[in-house]
Amino acid sequence: MDGIANSPSARDKAFLVHPMTNLKTHQDIGPTIIESGSGVRVKDDAGKEYIEGMAGLWCTSLGYGNERLIAAATKQMRALPYVQQFRHMSHDPGIDLAEKLVGMAPEGITKAFFVNSGSEANDTIVKFIRFYHNSIGQPQKKKIIARDKGYHGTTLVAASLCGLPHMHAAFDLPMAGISHTMCPHYYRYGLEGESEEEFATRCAEDLEKMILAEGPETVAAFFAEPVMGAGGVITPPKTYFAKIQAVLKKYDVLFVADEVICGFGRTGNMFGSDTYDLKPDFMTVAKALSSAYLPIAGVLMREEIFNAMADHAGELGILGHGYTYSGHPVASAVALETLTIYEELDIVARVQETSKTFMRELQAFDDHPLVGETRGVGLVGAIELVVDKKTRAPVDAKGPAPDYLYGRIMQSGLITRPIGNSIAFCPPLIISPADVEEMFSRFRTALDETLDHGTREGMFKAA
Ligand SMILES: Cc1ncc(COP(=O)(O)O)c(C=O)c1O
Repeated sequence: MDGIANSPSARDKAFLVHPMTNLKTHQDIGPTIIESGSGVRVKDDAGKEYIEGMAGLWCTSLGYGNERLIAAATKQMRALPYVQQFRHMSHDPGIDLAEKLVGMAPEGITKAFFVNSGSEANDTIVKFIRFYHNSIGQPQKKKIIARDKGYHGTTLVAASLCGLPHMHAAFDLPMAGISHTMCPHYYRYGLEGESEEEFATRCAEDLEKMILAEGPETVAAFFAEPVMGAGGVITPPKTYFAKIQAVLKKYDVLFVADEVICGFGRTGNMFGSDTYDLKPDFMTVAKALSSAYLPIAGVLMREEIFNAMADHAGELGILGHGYTYSGHPVASAVALETLTIYEELDIVARVQETSKTFMRELQAFDDHPLVGETRGVGLVGAIELVVDKKTRAPVDAKGPAPDYLYGRIMQSGLITRPIGNSIAFCPPLIISPADVEEMFSRFRTALDETLDHGTREGMFKAA
């Protein structure tokens, strides 16, 4: 009895509050405790092995047990575990990392500011956008537009930027001055007879209408992920970003590319901005920046913005923003080693090659009776589940089918991420083509079992 009461699972339930979790259900089902990992596989406390089909939370790009990252952290911790970056203090790993990141970033991006998470990075950008517009004598230009189904983090500002209802109502969000334009998901929101390009035009028109309704002189910036991740892995429709960027340019609205998932090879180029020809004024980077071995994220910005901010800081005597752990030396050293490994592996070429298998295996689900759409790019993708391929009626995300499927997926030895009526795949970038095949083969087993069981049990009711 005591053994059970003192089990890790019981102590988890007794003491640990889990993020992004149904706290009530957790008390019934308890945790899945993962104890170790190697390559693209992790093991739970019962010794069961899983392919990590989500690279943790879209982040462990180099997989598990990377000795070079461990060595980089150990070496830096011995040499200098901490030094601040406030008030002119600095350290080599931070300087090296800023230089390296700027060298990799799209043209025009020349400065890097470090924080500890994607949420902090997006909060920081909103503050910098305010600081910048105050500095150039446009204090009325402060409003932000993001997108329905966008995901940008969970702090008050970042959650407000998200376009996901479960992150708003219960927290009295979004904050004033942040609104959302339509989600560019052609399969779900395209109209009967509307082409992908026409749909993209409609998305850009929606943005333009919103800017005009708000008053262009008050709209400061637009936030977008190149590929929407936590909203369901939504790849942009053809011509979307060209049309969106034209609208932003017309009304002098800054463009923030949130590269937290897309950055560092995920979409088959170094940044999602390269894949979709984006010219961002700010970029958010996190996750694969350190392969998630330590928390670190960054705000990258254009020279003109930095210059205006520097002038303003000169007048005020300070840029009054920063974190104790901005550019933590150990995290910086690990990030620097991560970027070096990407170069040595030629990660972009490697992702492009593995992506052929990934996309082929993903699209092989197009024929499955429960699949409405498969979508993806590089090594990120999703499978959207429907009860009727013709009407596209989604599988009820709140019904029993997704839970049953997820149970079968875990049972098959695979970790993925259910998002509404879609299942996301985002394996470590180092995954081999053979393991991509194995990942999707496990998923197929789980999906077929769900189809059989769900049909017998009458689970496939439309939402
Ligand atoms: C696109 C995007 N932006 C921001 C964030 C927030 O990052 P963090 O969880 O590190 O705060 C995430 C996290 O998944 C993300 O996917």
